[in-house]
Amino acid sequence: MIPLGVIVTFSLASVVLTQPVKDSSYVAAVYEHNLIVNPEPRVSLSRDAALQHMKKNLDIYEEQAARAAQQGAQILVFPEDGIHGFNFSRSSISGYLETVPDPKQESWNPCTEREKYNNTEVLQRLSCMARQNNLYIVANMAGLQPCPLSTDPTSSCPSDGHWQFNTNVVFRSDGLLVARYHKNNLFYEDSFDTPPQPEIITFDTPFAGKFGLLICFDILFQEPTITLVEKGLRQLVYPTAWINTLPLLDSVQIHRAVSLGANLTLLSANLRHDHLDMGGSGIYTPFSATYHHAKRGDPEEGRLLVARVPVLDPEWLGQQAKEEGVLNSESSSSTAADSCHNESCSDASTAPPSPITFTSSMISDPFTFALLNETEGRLNVCDGTFCCHLQYQRFPQGSSKELYALGAFAGLHTVDGRFALQVCALVRCAGLDQSSCGQIVEEAESKMDFLLEGKFGTRYVYPSVLASRMVLEEPEHFEKAADGRLTMKHSNMTGGLVTASLFGRMYHQDNE
Ligand SMILES: *[C@@H]1O[C@H](CO)[C@@H](O)[C@H](O)[C@H]1NC(C)=O
Ligand SMILES: *[C@@H]1O[C@H](CO)[C@@H](O)[C@H](O)[C@H]1NC(C)=O
Ligand SMILES: *[C@@H]1O[C@H](CO)[C@@H](O)[C@H](O)[C@H]1NC(C)=O
Ligand SMILES: *[C@@H]1O[C@H](CO)[C@@H](O)[C@H](O)[C@H]1NC(C)=O
Ligand SMILES: *[C@@H]1O[C@H](CO)[C@@H](O)[C@H](O)[C@H]1NC(C)=O
Ligand SMILES: *[C@@H]1O[C@H](CO)[C@@H](O)[C@H](O)[C@H]1NC(C)=O
Repeated sequence: MIPLGVIVTFSLASVVLTQPVKDSSYVAAVYEHNLIVNPEPRVSLSRDAALQHMKKNLDIYEEQAARAAQQGAQILVFPEDGIHGFNFSRSSISGYLETVPDPKQESWNPCTEREKYNNTEVLQRLSCMARQNNLYIVANMAGLQPCPLSTDPTSSCPSDGHWQFNTNVVFRSDGLLVARYHKNNLFYEDSFDTPPQPEIITFDTPFAGKFGLLICFDILFQEPTITLVEKGLRQLVYPTAWINTLPLLDSVQIHRAVSLGANLTLLSANLRHDHLDMGGSGIYTPFSATYHHAKRGDPEEGRLLVARVPVLDPEWLGQQAKEEGVLNSESSSSTAADSCHNESCSDASTAPPSPITFTSSMISDPFTFALLNETEGRLNVCDGTFCCHLQYQRFPQGSSKELYALGAFAGLHTVDGRFALQVCALVRCAGLDQSSCGQIVEEAESKMDFLLEGKFGTRYVYPSVLASRMVLEEPEHFEKAADGRLTMKHSNMTGGLVTASLFGRMYHQDNE
């Protein structure tokens, strides 16, 4: 099913789950597309020239849709910006825009009803791709919506009388346009408007029930992601153009972590673009991850991932009670009974001494760090009242000297987006000086057995273990207690440890 190569698949063996039965699974595909760019995105193009450019990307989409269908895929996801590119201005993108009718208002099959709307070549081509290959297709494009011009200063209609949206479109396997979603959290996208209201968009499939839609930066925010989760959506479709930001926000690391922490399936299709450090796609379920992450400098090429995955939609599965999608296990049988439950550890005799701490910047946030200065030990590090606890045993490899530190951060992240965090992270420092802790490093040789724990003020905590050279390891065990304490245990690593992280999102504090 999975093509050979550097694709990695693993299962979360330590979590005991009923194996999905054969007829409650489906075949999903994501395509990491090596974008053919418009080299001068700030220069306006005619519609014809824009279509010529987009045709180059769409030709590749067409080949990949056929390949995915041959491998049995029932749904195929393409990345954000994969057809048109990025870095346009509001006016220079005009040749690329198509008006996308609202599928809630009207039923339109662009492949079979071509005459219904002019200037819909991209929609028509995608629709025919779905129809010819008999699969659902999710793609991202540049959309236009006329809006009523108004003198009312509170109107969000731009003065040129239309909105321009970063738009996901979904086509049924017969080509019918079934969903349209406008990105809510733009990331330096001059060409696009934020929709007047956040949109919560889902679509139904006969093989797996409901899917929810989001785009790239959206994944870090309440709207639409957590609203979808809280409505019971367990399957999310995710075109992205994710800029990798180690040590905490590499694509595969954070996307896999959200899937695990929110207990959902994420079909993540990223763009491949080395210059902007974009790449890393995956089919992530709560039980397994099939992903690909090229290393910088590898030849830039696309990559199709295909995997059979279990259906999670409770309605489709005929479950009556709507499960809470998120880690809400009130598990009383704590496996971390030997560790500190909070900063004032109950057993004072085994409490680690207060370490010497220092502040160093990680993803532009001031983390409080302490070094792991022994081969094994325990550490507590607090940022204000938010504390992280670590028990560790290091297994140094060869002659390498590598510095590791435990970091804690609680506060508002304000660089490239504004979002409130509580994070515990065990990181390999980039060098041998403590000021290098939190800086970018991709490789490591030291393996470690560890237990990492924090007491979080949110139920949305995303766990991850990233090993050397962009390899994900599945946390051996993680568990959330009713009091907000989240424990992640891991041992027997196959590669050196780059980052182990508990990434807590305090959505309720984003606007404080
Ligand atoms: C976008 O365009 C600006 C101005 O031409 C340029 O300085 C910048 O590097 C470009 N950014 C990307 C991501 O290509
Ligand atoms: C499409 O464009 C042609 C030529 O400009 C015009 O005659 C036709 O009415 C248009 N069709 C629609 C549906 O707008
Ligand atoms: C996650 O989802 C699975 C399957 O839908 C369910 O069996 C399991 O109890 C959920 N886990 C948590 C921690 O909510
Ligand atoms: C920490 O845990 C101890 C013992 O379980 C408890 O008595 C104390 O109130 C807790 N402190 C905080 C700040 O939660
Ligand atoms: C490690 O740090 C702790 C606290 O800062 C200190 O008590 C201990 O002696 C240090 N161990 C080594 C081997 O330096
Ligand atoms: C880790 O490896 C040791 C030694 O090979 C083995 O005894 C242990 O069961 C392994 N632990 C896990 C959780 O796989």
